[in-house]
Amino acid sequence: MNLPNMLNAKIRGKEEVKILYDDYNIFNIDNIGKDKKYLVLTYGCQMNVHDSEYISGIMDDLGYTKINDLEKADVIIINTCAIRENAHNKVEGMLGRIKHLKEEKKDIVVIFCGCMAQEEGLVNKIKDYKWIDIICGTHNYHKIPEYLDKYYKEKKNIREVFSIEGNIYENIPVDRDSKYVAWVNIQYGCDKFCTYCIVPYTRGKQRSRRPEDIINEIRELYNNGYQEVTLLGQNVNAYGKDLDINYDFATLLVEASQIGIPRIRFMTSHPWDFTDEMIEVISKCDNIMPYIHLPIQSGSNRILKLMGRKYTVEEYLDLVKKIKNKIKNVSITTDIIVGFPGENDDDFEKTLDVVNKVKYDLAYTFIFSPREGTPASRMKDDTPFSEKKERLARLNELINKYALESNKKMKDKIVDVLIISESDKDNKYMGYTENMKLVNVDCGSECLGKIVPVKITSVKTWSLDGVVCDRK
Ligand code: SAH
Ligand code: SF4
Ligand code: F3S
Repeated sequence: MNLPNMLNAKIRGKEEVKILYDDYNIFNIDNIGKDKKYLVLTYGCQMNVHDSEYISGIMDDLGYTKINDLEKADVIIINTCAIRENAHNKVEGMLGRIKHLKEEKKDIVVIFCGCMAQEEGLVNKIKDYKWIDIICGTHNYHKIPEYLDKYYKEKKNIREVFSIEGNIYENIPVDRDSKYVAWVNIQYGCDKFCTYCIVPYTRGKQRSRRPEDIINEIRELYNNGYQEVTLLGQNVNAYGKDLDINYDFATLLVEASQIGIPRIRFMTSHPWDFTDEMIEVISKCDNIMPYIHLPIQSGSNRILKLMGRKYTVEEYLDLVKKIKNKIKNVSITTDIIVGFPGENDDDFEKTLDVVNKVKYDLAYTFIFSPREGTPASRMKDDTPFSEKKERLARLNELINKYALESNKKMKDKIVDVLIISESDKDNKYMGYTENMKLVNVDCGSECLGKIVPVKITSVKTWSLDGVVCDRK
């Protein structure tokens, strides 16, 4: 049994990052999934969504068939998120259902993986749940074939989670959810250790993929008809800092842009690492989309310091100004945490001030959730939860006001929309504008996967409505 250890997970710089081009293999077991069905349940961020695409790729490779019906699956994989308590709660609710199912159907195989599996306390609890057959972490899901094979032969629980700094695996098969838009990892892990955050512990150290591997992947996606890629990393703009060559995010953007794929996005940008060259490149390359997710977390310098975010509000606002001045029609969104330990009314008002200054297109807002093992979880926190909820409600009201205001500016405009799927709305399709506004579009199925001109007919806080029209 190999279990995670939060202290080991914190150590950086001792292990060399290995880039493994042939570590994944399914020699001799490539049909263990024949006539069997699998389902992947995914929680958490884009990185986890993309990991699940790799897990699906692996399961397809083994001969399993993907389905959406929990009751009919022979293998259930639950890819978990640990970012906040409510992510935990969702997963635990689902575990209850799966346990029940397993009692009725003893033959199903349950695999628990993802960020929760990297949490020491959590794993020490669930390792004794006999009905969870396999537990593996974010560093070893490519070994699922080996674990499944072993499980079928020995019918014994498998628990293997590494607390390593992390490697890069380049030959894992991928089964993407969309034929038009794709996620591309450019960097794994995080070294920032913001005091509230569990990610550096669950995902290992920051490690950038080699530029040629990223460029080849984007080129292949483009050749296969993809219209858009989103470059993924916890701090995309710190890309390259850990490489042994002189190569940074701005250089990667230029090279990616030259491939010719119509749309390139990236997330998440850290205010700390945003250089003038990046702003320059984004403003000059037409296929790099004018959309920047730039988490501020708090508008109070005192709280930012406690959070370990190494920028000041003034620096952040300067950066926003530069971005808005240089990049035409840019949308800026953010993440904000309210109720961080020690946040008082004055700190919170300062957060509202920043929102009033930046007028975000959208923001993701959270109440601070203490994560076991992180420094912030040990800080004195005497704000009652009811007060934190009130702050969140006030913040959301302001955020929504600006979201609607920014959407209103789009009314009657003709904009390019990449149609990516059917919409829940009757007879409509949905897609995104260049600046990442969600649009429900009246159009036919022939528009799927295409960038079409759309006239915006009405706007709401969270989305726009439009009809396909002639090009402006
Ligand atoms: N790498 C990204 C963020 C990844 S986590 C960045 O640095 O911006 C996504 C968001 O979850 C964070 O931006 C933060 O706002 C929120 N978050 C992370 N840990 C949290 C916690 N313990 N409690 C509440 N929100 C948290
Ligand atoms: Fe978490 Fe901070 Fe890293 Fe983002 S930069 S993943 S918030 S530690
Ligand atoms: Fe959650 Fe892990 Fe992402 S904790 S937010 S799935 S990196």
